Amino acid sequence: MKKLAALLICAAAMASCFAAGPTFTVDASRSAGKVSPKLYGLMTEEINHSYDGGLYAELIQNRAFLDDTAMPIHWSVLNDGDAAATIALDPTNSFNDKLTNSLRLTVTKAAKHHSAGIANSGYWGIPVRPKQSYRASILARAESNCSCLVTVSIVSDDGRTVYATGKFSGLTTDWKRFEVTLKTGRVAPTAKARFVITLDQPGTVWFGMVSLFPPTWNDQPNGFRRDLMQMLVDLNPKFLRFPGGNYVEGDTVETRFEWKKTIGPIEERHGHPSPWGYRSTDGLGLLEFLAWCEDLKAEPVLAVYAGYSLKGAHVNPGPDLEPFVREALEEIEYVTGDVSTTWGAQRAKDGHPAPFKLTHVEIGNEDWFDKSKSYDERFAQFYDAIKSRYPQLKIISTIGNDQPESSHVHSRKPDMTDEHYYRSVDTFWHLAPEYARNYDRTGPEIFVGEWAAYETSFPPWDKRSEQEPPAPDLRAALGDGVFMAAMERNSDLIQMQCYAPLFVNVNPGGRQWRPDMIGYDALSAYGSPSYYAFQMFSRNLGDEILPTASTQTAVQGCATRDSQTGEIILKLVNPQAAAETLKIEIKGMASVAFKARAITLAGNPDDSNSITQPGRIVPVPTTVGGIKPDFSYTLPPHSIVVLKLKAR
Ligand code: AHR
Repeated sequence: MKKLAALLICAAAMASCFAAGPTFTVDASRSAGKVSPKLYGLMTEEINHSYDGGLYAELIQNRAFLDDTAMPIHWSVLNDGDAAATIALDPTNSFNDKLTNSLRLTVTKAAKHHSAGIANSGYWGIPVRPKQSYRASILARAESNCSCLVTVSIVSDDGRTVYATGKFSGLTTDWKRFEVTLKTGRVAPTAKARFVITLDQPGTVWFGMVSLFPPTWNDQPNGFRRDLMQMLVDLNPKFLRFPGGNYVEGDTVETRFEWKKTIGPIEERHGHPSPWGYRSTDGLGLLEFLAWCEDLKAEPVLAVYAGYSLKGAHVNPGPDLEPFVREALEEIEYVTGDVSTTWGAQRAKDGHPAPFKLTHVEIGNEDWFDKSKSYDERFAQFYDAIKSRYPQLKIISTIGNDQPESSHVHSRKPDMTDEHYYRSVDTFWHLAPEYARNYDRTGPEIFVGEWAAYETSFPPWDKRSEQEPPAPDLRAALGDGVFMAAMERNSDLIQMQCYAPLFVNVNPGGRQWRPDMIGYDALSAYGSPSYYAFQMFSRNLGDEILPTASTQTAVQGCATRDSQTGEIILKLVNPQAAAETLKIEIKGMASVAFKARAITLAGNPDDSNSITQPGRIVPVPTTVGGIKPDFSYTLPPHSIVVLKLKAR
């Protein structure tokens, strides 16, 4: 009898052993914490022509002739055929003390069928689309009052096709603004075009600023490119971290992001050199960042300059730092103050009377690079000043768990730390399962303010990255997937996270960093596989974390539940070259709807998307049947799968 019982137990054990196989278990009987409602957001700075030549819809490159003091780069003279003209930079004849240069055009001979004037090549071309209205705005004056007719046009690079044209007259010796609307007809889209201004008579004209905008998002003046904004809206971001990144710090104290110089009319903005090797117009300035948040229905996470710049200079804590602390307090007042405050009134004057909601302020960026080790003291000075005026604000330190404990801020308890993870796909696979598991839950909250998986054998800052395509491939997206799953499992502590960089202009010379989430040229844009992985995660999220466990599988994942509807959202990442059939057990869920929604991102791991092939790796939604609290599901090779299980 005993023998029989032993045999039966053994057989049962073997059956369960054979039946087990790869298993992924979700414990729906309890919640492991609340999912941060702000978990998914965006990080942005001027890098890779993110704004100028990117989101900021201005089409004229070097619109104020300040990009190079020696020559009018991106501009050329038109003096074909019988026409004769010359151009030169002329700082002695500038529009004001902000636009400190001008372009002088001298036409000595105008000819009926030949152009005498100037042309701008745009940001790697001027995008021409059918039935489109463009607004040109030109600050100009002439040597003497002039009856000449000025023609502004969008013209093909070879000069043969005029896509849109308009005219103005009335040039005088005083600076004036001229506005012209240009409309295209039924043309085929192209970016092989230039913006051209010609004169019909000899004369000398100075240009202080030449601007051209296509239709913008919500038709806002000085606004954003529509296609890129739509791609951001589709990510459902809850916050926007700006303005950096390195961009907030600048190479030097003088070239930091000095917010006061980025507000007001665009002709009052001088612009500044960015640390990424090109000059910023500051056309996308502080108020535009805030409007951008408003458009996305996302909250600003405002990074303030904190007295450290990239080439190593730091401002001593104490009296030397005081002006910078004041600058930050005034910036916060500009964002949040009502119109009775000095800077709230300035914001109203700039066109936005209503204050913006602000909950998080970050003090600097990656201050572990500061060799003087002054961050603790600098942080404390900012922290005390901000907290005494705005006790409700959460203050973020830029040094956290990814850096040695000795470098952390100790003199104050930051509300949150910003931790950056640029890691190889393999590194993410190894660190993800245990990530944050043992972090101190009573310590500061965590903001993973920059992260990305790279699929190369070298890191993003290696020179060899320049030879790689800007968008990461599917393999990198799988690395992103496991890290996002890890952050989601720990999102009681990881309150916010954002991939970086967000944008890249894919033209030669447009990029300083890879991998990047969204690529574009003048005419088109595409999401990388990482973009779609992020979208799958950010758009499918519950509010309760459910504990998960797995056995006999390389698959990693996470699960959340929507407490309102009872829906369980499972995210699974299969790194393997083979399909994986998983036994999925939902413990503590009595019944589940027979059909579920599945969203799958899969393909050849070396494949990616590009301008010419934007849809190679994209998520595919399907409906699947056979769902029970205990069911089998086959994940395709190299895939990320979101399964949405409805309660019944
Ligand atoms: O995202 C690119 C750069 O990486 C950021 O500007 C900086 O913060 C980080 O080192």
